[in-house]
Amino acid sequence: MRSCRGWAPRESTTLRTDGRLLTCALLVASAALVAGCRQDMHDTPRYETFEANPNMADGRASRAYPAGTVARGQLRDDEYFFTGKVNGEFAAEFPFAIAAADMARGQERYTAYCTPCHGQLGDGKGMVVQRGLRQAATYHQDRLRDAAPGYLYDVISNGFGAMQGYAEQVPPRDRWLIAAYVRALQLSQNAKVDDVPAADRGKLDAPAASHAAAGEPAPATRAEH
Ligand code: HEC
Repeated sequence: MRSCRGWAPRESTTLRTDGRLLTCALLVASAALVAGCRQDMHDTPRYETFEANPNMADGRASRAYPAGTVARGQLRDDEYFFTGKVNGEFAAEFPFAIAAADMARGQERYTAYCTPCHGQLGDGKGMVVQRGLRQAATYHQDRLRDAAPGYLYDVISNGFGAMQGYAEQVPPRDRWLIAAYVRALQLSQNAKVDDVPAADRGKLDAPAASHAAAGEPAPATRAEH
């Protein structure tokens, strides 16, 4: 009504129902109608999930799931892929072949989730460790070099000691890809000349030599943190 006040006829004694008053009355009536609808939509006549329902024998509006119900995509019956174990032992192999694109994704996921603590080299000197957080493990130790891929997957999934697990944030396949990248990091910091096929060993010095010849700096051997 307040908004109609300004439209009131100046000479109130005449009491004419002119067009403006009629418009005003219609506006008020339709506003009341709209308000009614709005309330109805807020409180629709249906049962909410977990609401009590006296019409059901067990008094619940929601039906219980039949025994053994599994949400679509949540069966997870592949022990190897989802737990990293085969017959209860940590799997000694990756559950699928790791292609170059997989390794690239593993690196990208590792960089997002693990470098803050473990560093780009996996030496446990990530940025938050440099800023005072607890020292993270270095991957460049014999025990972890010898650890089965399934063990790395398990640590990433469930955590280890002071480290939290990443099962909530990182889906299983990505966890395997991160494990593969950790393995690659281990190799990168512990490669021996014998690891290079004999036919290629002669090329080992070649890149540095060609860079020097072209007057370019040699490629960095250690990534920056
Ligand atoms: C918030 C810091 C932090 C992040 C992020 C983190 N870690 Fe760790 N990680 C640690 C710490 C700390 C330890 C040592 C825990 C201990 O010894 O109690 C550790 C230990 C480990 C170990 C060694 C387990 C062992 O047997 O000694 C592995 C492998 C590992 N982390 C992998 C990863 C991977 C892969 C990621 C990324 C998905 C990751 N971590 C993310 C802090 C972190």
